[in-house]
Amino acid sequence: MAKVWSKRFDNTLNPFIEKFNASIGFDRKLILEDLDCSIAHAKMLGKTKVLSSTETLQIINGLKTIKLEYLEGKFFPNPPSEDIHYCIEEKLISLIGEAGKKLHTGRSRNDQVGTDIRLWLRKEIDNLEILLTDLQKSFFYLAKSNIYTLIPGYTHMQRAQPLSLAHHLLAYLEMFQRDRERFKEVRSRVNTSPLGAAALAGTKIKIDRNFTAAELGFENIYKNSVDAVSDRDFCIEFVSASAIAMSHLSKISEEIILWVTDEFSFAKLTDKCATGSSLMPQKKNPDVPELIRGKTGRVYGHLQALLTMVKGVPLAYNKDFQEDKEPIFDTADTISSCIKALTILISEGIEFNIENLSYSVENDFSNATDLADYLVGKNVPFRTAYQVVGEIVKYCSERKILFKHLKIDEFKRFHPDFNQDVFLDLQPHNVVKARTSEGGTGFTQVEKEVNNWEKKLLL
Ligand code: ARG
Repeated sequence: MAKVWSKRFDNTLNPFIEKFNASIGFDRKLILEDLDCSIAHAKMLGKTKVLSSTETLQIINGLKTIKLEYLEGKFFPNPPSEDIHYCIEEKLISLIGEAGKKLHTGRSRNDQVGTDIRLWLRKEIDNLEILLTDLQKSFFYLAKSNIYTLIPGYTHMQRAQPLSLAHHLLAYLEMFQRDRERFKEVRSRVNTSPLGAAALAGTKIKIDRNFTAAELGFENIYKNSVDAVSDRDFCIEFVSASAIAMSHLSKISEEIILWVTDEFSFAKLTDKCATGSSLMPQKKNPDVPELIRGKTGRVYGHLQALLTMVKGVPLAYNKDFQEDKEPIFDTADTISSCIKALTILISEGIEFNIENLSYSVENDFSNATDLADYLVGKNVPFRTAYQVVGEIVKYCSERKILFKHLKIDEFKRFHPDFNQDVFLDLQPHNVVKARTSEGGTGFTQVEKEVNNWEKKLLL
């Protein structure tokens, strides 16, 4: 197939270089966005009378035919077209002839590709908003039914203080909420139209940028044509927001992987989300969270790739930018499939081992702070109380016993203000219940938060 620029060149491209240069293998994903972008552009050229009404109609109908043929599986963008933009233009010319050659008036592939990616990303972000909300709902239901279930809370991966399991799960709802907000902010910058910036300088053809922007649902237009075709910040922002969201998915995945080990036994995987081993008959593997954890690295890699892609690239469009597509495509595919998989895992893939959870919080020193706070309640300075409890922990550890096994006289030997009621304060349920500070794990606080989420998620 002759290149559009063939008249300017004496020789044809080296076949390897032709393939090296092409992006059709991946940017065909933008076909619907490219068609929409062209339809809006043609409408605008009709309105400004650059095209006659017959030409406008011919072009728009031609583009709609291509869309239909594609949706019916009768047309698929393929080499030898270099990219999706040439591919559609070539197909249009083959369908409608001369009028098709007028479509590219007053635009460049530079503003065109920028428009296509933004339309595609906007759609993906809208889809992620739905997926993240569904994920939040799955966590919400699990939390709601586990307000009074206790789980050891950890810092440094060492038992720290017991938590309401709901409180632990609601922490993830907060993270996913921030993810939604981040994507919303990214969306507002994605939703700015570069169309009409042409190659880099604008055009002397009579165009109406606000018209195409409105046709395509953009909220704004770029104010500077050079910036319009050079900006890839929004791609980086999208992958960055995705990378942060993936870190949250990876964090809960890691927790689930730990929880279902024999060593922790806090939960088990149902058969719907676990896989067996090809060799060891006893195994039930947490492949789903492991895959999510593993795929997080891909998204981090894409972020690095994009940051490096724009670094040191002079204004304006440079072919380096063709490398923006695969990272954002793969990021969107990866994060959406991971969110879906995690939603299924949380909804039907995991069962908590309540008995073992309560055994865990009853048989450790995670009530040590409460022992100190007991003395604080008797007006003992915290630092003194802390040291007293440190001595008690040492005493118990040496004897391989817990606080609850001590006699009241033994307690009194460490501090005279200990009384019989200390045993009540040490019970894990009471330990959690007493954390009534705002945002704490106390049951009343958690109930309040569950109610807030119920309203926020419109359940
Ligand atoms: N396939 C190209 C890309 O994705 C389209 C824009 C090409 N523009 C140019 N001036 N060569 O970036």
